[in-house]
Amino acid sequence: MKVKVSRKAHFNAAHRLFRSDWSDEKNNAVFGLCSNPNFHGHNYDLIVSVYGEIDQETGFVIDLKILKDLINSEIEMAFDHKNLNVEVPEFKNLNPTAENIAVVIFNKLRPHIAMDKDLEVVLYETSRNFVTYSG
Ligand code: NI
Repeated sequence: MKVKVSRKAHFNAAHRLFRSDWSDEKNNAVFGLCSNPNFHGHNYDLIVSVYGEIDQETGFVIDLKILKDLINSEIEMAFDHKNLNVEVPEFKNLNPTAENIAVVIFNKLRPHIAMDKDLEVVLYETSRNFVTYSG
């Protein structure tokens, strides 16, 4: 029996979407408010899901305490109350769009999840805008 187990998490972070090789006008036209040169914040909501067989000994797909601690150490400690562009190395040369943040989160968590399990990351940048990445 395969079951999907999910954990919700949250972080606040600042970002700016822009390309340094584009003019201010073009950045503003493409990225709008998210291109504010002085940065701005989002309240990100995160849902991390692990899908796989139930372990017959424990009854778990994954121990949610382990998943909680993993999200805390790998994602919340790295992103919460940070300026993503300035303080998070993965975004030095990568626009911190919701799409790219979801991929970075997936790639940080994937090595810690057993390979016989599937991993899915859902990231809400606002209550209405969210992206999904599962590798
Ligand atoms: Ni934004």
